[in-house]
Amino acid sequence: MKILSAEYVKGTFEPENRGMSNIPEVCFIGRSNVGKSSMINTLVMQKVARTSSTPGATRMVNLYKISYEFKGIKKWVLFSDFPGFGYSKVSKGTYMSWKKIIERYIIGNKFIRRLIWIFDVRRDLDELDNILIEWLKDNRIPFSFVITKIDKATRNETASKKAQFNKVFGLENVFVFSAKSGDGRKELLSHIFTVVE
Ligand code: GTP
Ligand code: MG
Repeated sequence: MKILSAEYVKGTFEPENRGMSNIPEVCFIGRSNVGKSSMINTLVMQKVARTSSTPGATRMVNLYKISYEFKGIKKWVLFSDFPGFGYSKVSKGTYMSWKKIIERYIIGNKFIRRLIWIFDVRRDLDELDNILIEWLKDNRIPFSFVITKIDKATRNETASKKAQFNKVFGLENVFVFSAKSGDGRKELLSHIFTVVE
């Protein structure tokens, strides 16, 4: 398993503008500042995506074309880095307009194989998360759940968060990760390459 190259392709909100019709896509989605862009950079071991300590760094769906080798075969995948939704006290109206844009991109895009839902180890699911989870379930969009920034929590805190989410999302779909330490990188990459097969 090896990343061969990673390059920025474009930013868009229009699934029709995506192009690259034979390449499967994996979407990185979650709250502002949770570490979506950092996760992509750590996965590909290259700083392709812009990150910032200020929420709102990613403003469009930014597409990255990744070449990789998995089980001896060379393949392509698109990673899409989504703008984050509500940092702390976002209004429900703002959230709903974000949700519409995201829904349109996801529903209109038949190349999406999986959503990677990224979640801060120090947070709990709230109403906005639950609205989106219900929507994903209703629309049968496959998603995996990644608990990130685990370098900011103790091993016990991470383990108990993981156990909590395993109950909700199932054992095989919950991962832990740190963009800072690289913990969980191999497991997540291998999962992603397996689900896009
Ligand atoms: P938006 O594009 O604004 O939605 O944010 P994002 O989800 O893409 O987050 P981004 O990757 O820009 O990271 C936000 C901040 O969190 C930056 O200061 C990162 O350095 C930091 N960060 C991201 N991942 C980790 C992690 O695993 N551990 C630690 N300690 N910091 C992280
Ligand atoms: Mg970002």
